Amino acid sequence: MFPSNEGRRPAFPRSRCSIMDRLWFSLLLLAAACRGQPCPKRCMCQSLSPSLAILCSKTGLLFIPAAIDRRTVELRLQENFITAVRRRDFANMTSLLHLTLSRNTISQILPSAFSDLRRLRALHLDSNRLTVIKDEHFQGLTNLRHLILANNQLHSISSHAFDDFLSTLEDLDLSYNNLAQAPWDTIRRLTNVNTLNMDHNLIENVPQGVFTNLHKLARLDMTSNKLKKIPPDPLFLRIPVYAKSKGSPLTSLVLSFGGNPLHCNCELLWLRRLTREDDLETCASPADLSAKYFWTIPEEEFICDPPVLTRKSPHTVSMVGQPASLKCKANGDPEPEVHWISPEGRLISNSSRTLVFPNGSLDINVTSLKDSGNFTCIASNAAGESTGRVELVVTAMPHLANSTSRGRDPSSEQAPSDILTSSKVALPGNETRGADRRVSLVELTGNSALIRWSSQTSTTGVRMFQVQKGNAGLLESFAGNLRNFNERYDCGFLSQQ
Ligand SMILES: *[C@@H]1O[C@H](CO)[C@@H](O)[C@H](O)[C@H]1NC(C)=O
Ligand SMILES: *[C@@H]1O[C@H](CO)[C@@H](O)[C@H](O)[C@H]1NC(C)=O
Ligand SMILES: *[C@@H]1O[C@H](CO)[C@@H](O)[C@H](O)[C@H]1NC(C)=O
Ligand SMILES: *[C@@H]1O[C@H](CO)[C@@H](O)[C@H](O)[C@H]1NC(C)=O
Ligand SMILES: *[C@@H]1O[C@H](CO)[C@@H](O)[C@H](O)[C@H]1NC(C)=O
Ligand SMILES: *[C@@H]1O[C@H](CO)[C@@H](O)[C@H](O)[C@H]1NC(C)=O
Ligand SMILES: *[C@@H]1O[C@H](CO)[C@@H](O)[C@H](O)[C@H]1NC(C)=O
Repeated sequence: MFPSNEGRRPAFPRSRCSIMDRLWFSLLLLAAACRGQPCPKRCMCQSLSPSLAILCSKTGLLFIPAAIDRRTVELRLQENFITAVRRRDFANMTSLLHLTLSRNTISQILPSAFSDLRRLRALHLDSNRLTVIKDEHFQGLTNLRHLILANNQLHSISSHAFDDFLSTLEDLDLSYNNLAQAPWDTIRRLTNVNTLNMDHNLIENVPQGVFTNLHKLARLDMTSNKLKKIPPDPLFLRIPVYAKSKGSPLTSLVLSFGGNPLHCNCELLWLRRLTREDDLETCASPADLSAKYFWTIPEEEFICDPPVLTRKSPHTVSMVGQPASLKCKANGDPEPEVHWISPEGRLISNSSRTLVFPNGSLDINVTSLKDSGNFTCIASNAAGESTGRVELVVTAMPHLANSTSRGRDPSSEQAPSDILTSSKVALPGNETRGADRRVSLVELTGNSALIRWSSQTSTTGVRMFQVQKGNAGLLESFAGNLRNFNERYDCGFLSQQ
């Protein structure tokens, strides 16, 4: 049987092939000539019954050769200049167990390229130029155990890309790519996985509980990513606290989180408790712990600070139909989450009328009288919580506006008088500036305006308008053509006399 490296991947990928190649070379020189196998040009073929192996490494190939025996069990095509894997390249190769395409320039995998490789156990695609893995790329690989995608330029992996081998995969290597987001929904279903390498990517977060069902996981490498925190996972309980020694049994779990900008507060205490003197995890923050190794920092220094409200909206007045924005800002470590409770005591979430932002703002885009009352913001984090009260007063609409310009006082604080209701409609030309009796605002409510103008004026072609409103010192102005006015401000109707 051919000496396959299908089991464990050697520790030093760069030399992975060369020694093997030389060994191969001698073996194949002996074997190749004797048989009448069709062998692709410049490749070496070996048939040791019942298995057939083809070696075409470093042969300057630009394509996958067409003359490959379809019964091949082992195919090595590393260190060539192959740029694409096509449908026909591996068609009908149902006996293939091991395929190496490492160190080519592959940037393209065409749909169904691997779909006949039902028995394939190991696929090496490391050191190529892949940028995305799509759902259809690996379809049909129903027996895959080892998938090596290290050292590409991957930034995206579709959520169903690994569906055909979720329960068979033992070894997944995604290291040295550009992944900001690992395919977590896929990873949490890799029930047979033993080794997971995701080191040297740009991963910023690990979802809670993602490793819970990976009972066979023995090695997890997340070195050199952008993780600031790592949620504890039931799986990590398998690591014997402080007791791990170099000769630990294979069943234990090896975790590597070094080279991440870890924020060392109480949330990482669990990891501190697992750390041994030879671990390389360091803290990036807070400042007083920065660059220190985990194991040098006493547990008591992994602390969190409860939230403190630093800023919140004062008593807020809004007119019916107008938007309102309530703000609550809190500091703490970790960064507090802010939730809002309505005056009736309900937790407010995003809806068609309300938006709750992570920074603590609550926006109500159309207020109603019922919104009046005391809102409560609750800032909470791992260390505690802190609450604040913001009173919102929603006032009824102003009285019917007078159609003539009246004195405006933009600094007026009190609704309803803070809504300016002058009509000042600018028509084309300059003859209508100022209070123009030919154009009048006859009715104004919180969300509609009725504007009239004489037909004589309209024959001059009314296309533009400008409405200004003042609100507690703010002057907003809206302008546009008539149609837009109607749409944007739900302005009842614009009619003409
Ligand atoms: C694969 O097998 C089918 C059916 O036996 C045949 O038509 C086709 O030409 C084969 N393709 C290759 C690339 O050998
Ligand atoms: C309020 O927000 C909802 C959803 O975001 C939107 O459908 C609705 O048109 C908004 N209303 C106003 C007056 O902006
Ligand atoms: C509500 O929507 C905003 C804007 O789309 C988003 O930033 C925010 O995270 C959402 N809040 C929640 C609690 O989902
Ligand atoms: C919070 O974020 C929202 C949307 O990004 C923004 O409108 C609001 O002004 C922010 N609030 C604060 C207090 O920064
Ligand atoms: C809001 O709370 C303040 C202080 O407790 C109280 O005086 C006020 O009446 C409350 N407002 C409403 C609408 O309940
Ligand atoms: C509108 O203004 C006119 C004079 O400018 C005045 O006679 C009238 O009473 C005003 N109407 C309202 C509703 O204020
Ligand atoms: C407005 O129009 C008058 C004549 O109708 C003209 O004398 C005046 O210069 C114009 N003003 C501006 C600012 O265009």
